[in-house]
Amino acid sequence: MQIDVFTLFPGWFDWFRTQRHVTNAVALGSALDCVDYRAHTPLKWGQVDDTPFGGGAGMVLRVDVVEAALRARYGDDPVAVRERRRVIALTPGGRLLDDGLVEEFAAEEELTLLCGRYEGFDERILDHFCSDQVSIGRYVLAGGELAAMVVCDAVLRKLPGALGHEESAQEESFSAALGGAPEYPHYTRPAEWRGWGVPDVLLSGHHAKIREWRHEQARHRGGGESLS
Ligand code: ADE
Repeated sequence: MQIDVFTLFPGWFDWFRTQRHVTNAVALGSALDCVDYRAHTPLKWGQVDDTPFGGGAGMVLRVDVVEAALRARYGDDPVAVRERRRVIALTPGGRLLDDGLVEEFAAEEELTLLCGRYEGFDERILDHFCSDQVSIGRYVLAGGELAAMVVCDAVLRKLPGALGHEESAQEESFSAALGGAPEYPHYTRPAEWRGWGVPDVLLSGHHAKIREWRHEQARHRGGGESLS
């Protein structure tokens, strides 16, 4: 998996890159690179945004700046780039990210994430350069960087070996293995704390019963989807 994040704040991703599942994914051949829009702006004073036509507050990321950054990275017209790799703009009004969409992205070889800032993107960027618009929730962040990190986090941990223990990303909340239901409850030592115990079945060592109990719990939490 090769992920390119286009941003005005590449430094924000330095911390994210140090996280274990990210370092694992990178060690196994994935890459997470940042491209700084500002480094590629064709404008004399390093501008990347401008005031909106028609007036209004805030600044809008310019289409010529985004085109220059995409061309510099891919050596091609961005209109053609989106035909061969998913180019995803992070926007508050986009398709809501869920486990199904994360699975879709995790199955791609390459992803491009475009972070907006201020009032967002010139609409022509979304219309002509992007294959997807994704939102991490119906609220407005100051920019797309945190949303891009959420996408990267959710996608990278799905990759084989990223978590360091193979099964953990399979049977987890909202996964197909749990019929889309939230995950079952977990407990660990101590087996009793302030009189709060742990369900007996989990201490029984009876794996089939434990499995049955867990799926039953997930079903309850999720409102009744059936599991295999
Ligand atoms: N950019 C600003 N707000 C956002 C959100 N909620 N999701 C994705 N990108 C955003």
